[in-house]
Amino acid sequence: MTSASRLQRVLLVGFMGSGKSSVGRRLAERMGWRFVDFDDAIQRAAGMSIAEIFEREGEPRFRSLEERVARDLLADSRVVLGSGGGWAAAPGRLESVPEGTATFWLKVSPAEAVRRATRHPAKRPLLDRPDALEAASRMLAEREPLYAAARWTVDTERSSVEDVTAGILEILEQDYPEIRVV
Ligand code: S3P
Repeated sequence: MTSASRLQRVLLVGFMGSGKSSVGRRLAERMGWRFVDFDDAIQRAAGMSIAEIFEREGEPRFRSLEERVARDLLADSRVVLGSGGGWAAAPGRLESVPEGTATFWLKVSPAEAVRRATRHPAKRPLLDRPDALEAASRMLAEREPLYAAARWTVDTERSSVEDVTAGILEILEQDYPEIRVV
């Protein structure tokens, strides 16, 4: 079965450390599209790091900035978007993406997520704590049903960036034969 509308953008969702940015960057390269990471766009808009926004202005302010930035980015075309881990965890987000958006949930376990995510603590204040694994397990359990609203799920646990990217491209080429990949 092929999708009715033309592919305009790819949206990657999933937990911190699931590989949204590394896979998104590689995917965009292979499609000849741009890659934009929600967190980078938020940091540019706020003129502060994610950790600073959380610390100085609080999580609710971060979430409203995130919502606004995401809305703008989801209007772009020929772009691969890497969302922040919390964006798709709010009810209704994935159900309301614009037409022509292919959504993928990059799946990862809490242990692997913590192992990867704590390499960049300035972006992950929510895991910058001694009980990070417990916190990640709790958050993931709450979020998984919402991430599952993505059209496709790709397991990233033991796969390289190159393999996850190739898996996504295989799915896209089936549903959107018009795309060109290098
Ligand atoms: C968050 C994930 C982070 C960043 C912020 C909050 C979350 O993005 O937006 O620290 O709530 O899961 P990444 O998923 O890109 O690490």
